[in-house]
Amino acid sequence: MFAITGITGQVGGEVARNLLAGRQTVRGVVRDVNKAKVWAERGCELMAADINDAAALTAAFEGVDGVFVLVPPNFDPSPDFQEARAIAGTLNRALDSARPRGVVYLSTIGAQTTHHLNLLSQHTIIEQALRKVSVPITFLRPAWFMENSNWDVASAKNGLIQSFLQPLDKPVPMVATADIGCLAAELLQEKWKGHRVVELEGLSPVTPKEIAATFARLLGRPVRVEAVPRETWEPLFKSQGMKNPEPRVQMLDGFNEGWIKFEGKDGGVRKGKVELETVLRSLIEIDGGAKARSTTT
Ligand SMILES: NC(=O)c1ccc[n+]([C@@H]2O[C@H](COP(=O)([O-])OP(=O)(O)OC[C@H]3O[C@@H](n4cnc5c(N)ncnc54)[C@H](OP(=O)(O)O)[C@@H]3O)[C@@H](O)[C@H]2O)c1
Repeated sequence: MFAITGITGQVGGEVARNLLAGRQTVRGVVRDVNKAKVWAERGCELMAADINDAAALTAAFEGVDGVFVLVPPNFDPSPDFQEARAIAGTLNRALDSARPRGVVYLSTIGAQTTHHLNLLSQHTIIEQALRKVSVPITFLRPAWFMENSNWDVASAKNGLIQSFLQPLDKPVPMVATADIGCLAAELLQEKWKGHRVVELEGLSPVTPKEIAATFARLLGRPVRVEAVPRETWEPLFKSQGMKNPEPRVQMLDGFNEGWIKFEGKDGGVRKGKVELETVLRSLIEIDGGAKARSTTT
């Protein structure tokens, strides 16, 4: 039995699909059991636990062969990262009490970077707390998700996407969530000792210009990409309701300046198989399906 947090989201769902396909049993750890009924129908056991609830997480992580830990994204953390620090303490206590046989923690490319505080420092903080727990833990550090292009589908259909990744011809390591889920399921079923880091990227790094060209090919129309000027990011993010845009700005600087990168230790960076084109095609189809549903209801 494997306990999976974030099963209703992108990566957790892929991890669960891979385990079920391999005839493993799965416990979905969810904050709202009613939202996860589809997973019960697929044969999963469901247990309720919020990521901030150490007692509920301990119960959900007990008696399993492995736990997949996914911390929900927080694009607007407090300046002192108190939310990540609280989750780090909670996970530390829950894993130390439940003592599962193995843990795969979904971290990120660049989690080793300690000299620049940025949005990804949330994972640096949590990795550091989990390193104090004496159960086998794999820190799975994937590249930028190809699915982040979901934000661009509507504008691509109008012929222009905007990019915070720049310059526009700079390749950035990216990976499909299907590849992350597949590897996480494999890692959960391995036996290892202590703590290890596994880094993952797609077949080749991707430029913003390639994203626009791929959208153009799939949509059968020209799609341009333009860089969002750096000096407009902070006021833009504030106008969108963010209280503390600095960590997000710093993260984007890190990708653009190249200091958010893979560590490259322990046998190098693993490669996924899924192409950007496959991911963008699926995002376009999902967007089309959602629009069709909203016009018929
Ligand atoms: N985007 C990237 O490029 C990138 C790159 C590297 C790493 N990452 C990391 O990947 C993770 C995000 O993965 P994802 O895209 O699969 O996430 P996602 O699709 O946004 O799903 C988030 C999941 O977290 C659950 N959740 C939200 N709040 C919760 C709470 N308080 N307690 C328990 N569960 C809660 C959600 O459940 P509900 O259904 O209840 O909402 C959902 O299942 C983040 O940690 C992010 O930093 C992202």
